Amino acid sequence: EHDSTVSIIVVGASGDLAKKKIFPALFALYYEDCLPKHFTVFGYARSKMTDAELRDMVSRTLTCRIDKRENCSEKMEQFLKRCFYHSGQYDSEKNFAELGTKLRDHEGGRVSNRLFYLSIPPNIFTEVVKCASNSASSANGWTRVIVEKPFGRDAESSAALTRDLKQYLVEDQIFRIDHYLGKELVENLSVLRFSNLIFEPLWSRQYIRNVQFIFSEDFGTEGRGGYFDNYGIIRDIMQNHLLQILALFAMETPVSLDAEDVRNEKVKVLRSMKPLQLENVVVGQYKSHTKGGVTYPAYTDDKTVPKGSLTPTFAAAALFINNARWDGVPFLMKAGKALHSKIAEIRVQFRHVPGNLFNRSFGTDLDRATNELVIRVQPDEGIYLKINNKVPGLAMRLDRSNLNLHYAARYSKEIPDAYERLLLDAIEGERRLFIRSDELDAAWALFTPVLKELEEKKVMPEFYPYGSRGPVGAHYLAARHNVQWGDIS
Ligand code: BG6
Repeated sequence: EHDSTVSIIVVGASGDLAKKKIFPALFALYYEDCLPKHFTVFGYARSKMTDAELRDMVSRTLTCRIDKRENCSEKMEQFLKRCFYHSGQYDSEKNFAELGTKLRDHEGGRVSNRLFYLSIPPNIFTEVVKCASNSASSANGWTRVIVEKPFGRDAESSAALTRDLKQYLVEDQIFRIDHYLGKELVENLSVLRFSNLIFEPLWSRQYIRNVQFIFSEDFGTEGRGGYFDNYGIIRDIMQNHLLQILALFAMETPVSLDAEDVRNEKVKVLRSMKPLQLENVVVGQYKSHTKGGVTYPAYTDDKTVPKGSLTPTFAAAALFINNARWDGVPFLMKAGKALHSKIAEIRVQFRHVPGNLFNRSFGTDLDRATNELVIRVQPDEGIYLKINNKVPGLAMRLDRSNLNLHYAARYSKEIPDAYERLLLDAIEGERRLFIRSDELDAAWALFTPVLKELEEKKVMPEFYPYGSRGPVGAHYLAARHNVQWGDIS
C-alpha cells in the first residue's frame, strides 16, 4: 500500500460537474486525510491550460466548509500542488499516451493505480475509454473508470453502451455513479430498516399501505435544456435516483453488506417489478408564471429547448412489485423541476390500526390517523415518524405529532457530499454503491416501454405554473390507487 500511488484523472476537467462536485469532493477527502499518501489529480480536456491555470480554476471551486477554524488555506495549497493538467483530444491515442508518460513520471516507480473520471458527454464515453485503456492504463496496478449517467436513452442504447465499454474494460473496472446512492440518508436506509426491531418486521404489505418517493426542485432547466430535452424527467431522475432508492427500500435482506450481496438483492427486486404502464404515469411541463412582479420562464422559453417540445419536466408514476412481500402495495414516485420547493424524501404510509378504539376521534378521515415515516434525504436531513397522541387536557382529543430525528440538532458534524463517499469508494474498490450492468438493464426494462409509448403517442404533458405543486393529474393518479401524497395533505 505504501508503495502504491493513485492518479485520479478528471476527463472533462473544465466542465460543470468537475468544478461543482469532483474537485471540491477530492479536496474534502484530502482535507479529511482520506486520500492515499501518494496521489495526484490530473485534469484532462481539450482546451489549452497550464498546471498553474488549472490550479487557479480548481482553487476557485474549493471552500473551507469542513472545519473553518483550522489551517484550511494551507491544506488547499498542499492539495493544489498535487493537481496537474494535460490538454488533449478525447479521441487521440497519442494524447492519452502523452498523459500516460506524465503519469508515469509522477508515479516515480511505485505501483500505479489509475482512476479515470469521465465528466464528459456520453457520445464520447467509448472513444475516451478506448484511448485511456489502450494508451494510459496502469501497467502494474488497477485501472478504474467512473461514468455518470446518461447510460443510454433506453434499454437498447444502454445495452449497446455497455457492450462498447466492455470491449475495453471488464465489469469490475466500470464504476457507474448514481450520486443519490452516496447521500447520507440513502446510505442510512439499510441501517434504519434492518437494525431496528420496530421497523424490520413492519416492512411489508402486511403493515405498509404505500410508499412514496418524492423529488422536487424549485428551479427549471436553466441552460441545461440542451441535455435535458433529449432525456426528460423520467430518465433524468426516476429511472435512476428514485428507482435506486426504491430498490434499497424494498429489497430482501442481503446475505451481507458486500457489494455483490447487496447488488444481487437490488437486481432481484427490480426484476420482480412490472414495467411501468402508461395508465400509471402522469407527465407535466412547466409554463411561465408571474409572481410578485417577477416572471418565471416556461420550459420552452429556455433557448436550448426546441419550440413546442413535449419533454416532461414533471412525472408521477405508480409501480408495483410482484413478490410475496410487496404484492399490491403502490410504490409512487413524483419528480419535477420548477416546483414550489426543493426536497427529496421517502414517505412510508402504514395501514390503519384494526378496530382502533379511537377511530371516532378521527371522524371520517381515517387516513389522518395512520402512522407515516418520513425520511428526508435533503435538505435539512432527518427522519420523523408521525404518531397519534393525546392532546394534553381534560378532553380525549387526539392529534398526530412527530417523533423527530433532526440531523442538524442531533449531529454536530457536517454531512459529506455524495461525491466524497463515492470517490473514496471508487479509490478503495468498494463497489456496493455503484450500479452493476444487470441492475442497469433491469432499471431500463421497467421504463423503456412507457418512454417509447409517451414519445410515439406524443402524449401532451399537463402544464403547471413555474413554482407550483405540479399538475393535478398527480393527485388523481395517487387517488386511483387509494393514496394521498403525504407532502401535500
Ligand atoms: C442530476 C440531474 O442527476 O441530479 C439533475 O441530472 C438534478 O437534473 C440533480 O438537478 C439533483 O441532484 P441533487 O444532488 O442536487 O439533488
